[in-house]
Amino acid sequence: MAERFTNKAIIVTGAGNGMGRASALAFAREGGGVAVADINEADGLGTVRQIADAGGRAIFVQCDVTKSADVQRLVAATVDAFGGVDVLHNNAGVVTYGTVVDMPEEDWDRVLAINLKGAFLTCKYAIPEMRKRGGGAIVNTASVQAFATQQMVAAYAASKSAIVSFTMSTSVATVSRPARSRLGSLSSAVLSGPEAHTSAHCQSGGHSPQAPRRPEYSSTEKTGVGGARWMPSAASAAAGRAAYTRTSGE
Ligand SMILES: NC(=O)c1ccc[n+]([C@@H]2O[C@H](COP(=O)([O-])OP(=O)(O)OC[C@H]3O[C@@H](n4cnc5c(N)ncnc54)[C@H](O)[C@@H]3O)[C@@H](O)[C@H]2O)c1
Repeated sequence: MAERFTNKAIIVTGAGNGMGRASALAFAREGGGVAVADINEADGLGTVRQIADAGGRAIFVQCDVTKSADVQRLVAATVDAFGGVDVLHNNAGVVTYGTVVDMPEEDWDRVLAINLKGAFLTCKYAIPEMRKRGGGAIVNTASVQAFATQQMVAAYAASKSAIVSFTMSTSVATVSRPARSRLGSLSSAVLSGPEAHTSAHCQSGGHSPQAPRRPEYSSTEKTGVGGARWMPSAASAAAGRAAYTRTSGE
C-alpha cells in the first residue's frame, strides 16, 4: 500500500479509543508519525503500543483538550518528535443525555468544553506550526446530530453544529492565506464495534447505551474542505447526512 503520510506529523485527539484510535492506527499505517493525545494515559499508551507493534511511529501525550497548557504541550511535543505539524484530527468528544431542564449546568459546560473549545485550542496552537510547513489539513469530527438530531442530547447536538460552523469559519480564515491548507468536518451516525469503543464512554456519560453492538457504520460524509461553500440540503439532512458542495479550494 502506498504510504500517503510518510514524513508527515499528525495529531489525533481522543486517540485512546474508538474512532480516534482507528484514525491514529490508519495514519501510522500510511507512514505518518502520530501524536496520540488522550486524557486517559492507559488508553493512549495502548494505542501507541498497537502502532509500535505494527512497525509504526507514535508518541503519547497526555492531554486534556480543554486546557490551553496541555494543548500547547501537545503541539510542542509533536514538533519535537516529528519536526512539525501537518495534520490535526480533532476527534475527542463526549455526550451526556438529559433534558435541558434536568441537565446539570456542569454537563453542558463539559460537553461544550471538550467538543468545541478543545477544537478551538488545538487549531489555535497547531495552525501556526502548519503555516511554517506551507500548509496542513484539519479534520474536525462532528456528528449526524449536527444536522438531524433527537431529544435528550441538546448540549451534544449544539456542540456538533457549532463544530461545523467553526470549521467553515476557520477554513475561510485559513485558506485565504497563501499557505496551502484544507479543513473539513466529518459527520457520522452511531458507530460501534471493534473500532468504535462505546461501553466505557456510555458509563461515563458517553455515547448512546442503545448503540448497536455489532460493527456498524451507518453514514459518514465529509462536510467540507478548503474554502468551500457549504450547503447542507434539507433532503440529506433529513436522511441524517450532511451534503457538501465544493465551490473553491483544493
Ligand atoms: N461513536 C459514535 O457513534 C459517534 C457518532 C458520531 C460522532 N461521533 C464522534 O466521534 C468522536 C469519537 O467518538 P468515539 O465513539 O470513538 O469516542 P470514544 O468514547 O470511544 O473515545 C473518545 C476518546 O476521547 C477521550 N477524551 C475524552 N475527553 C477528553 C479530553 N478532555 N481530552 C482528551 N481526550 C479526551 C477519551 O478518553 C476517549 O479515549 C467524538 O467526537 C464523537 O462525538 C461518534
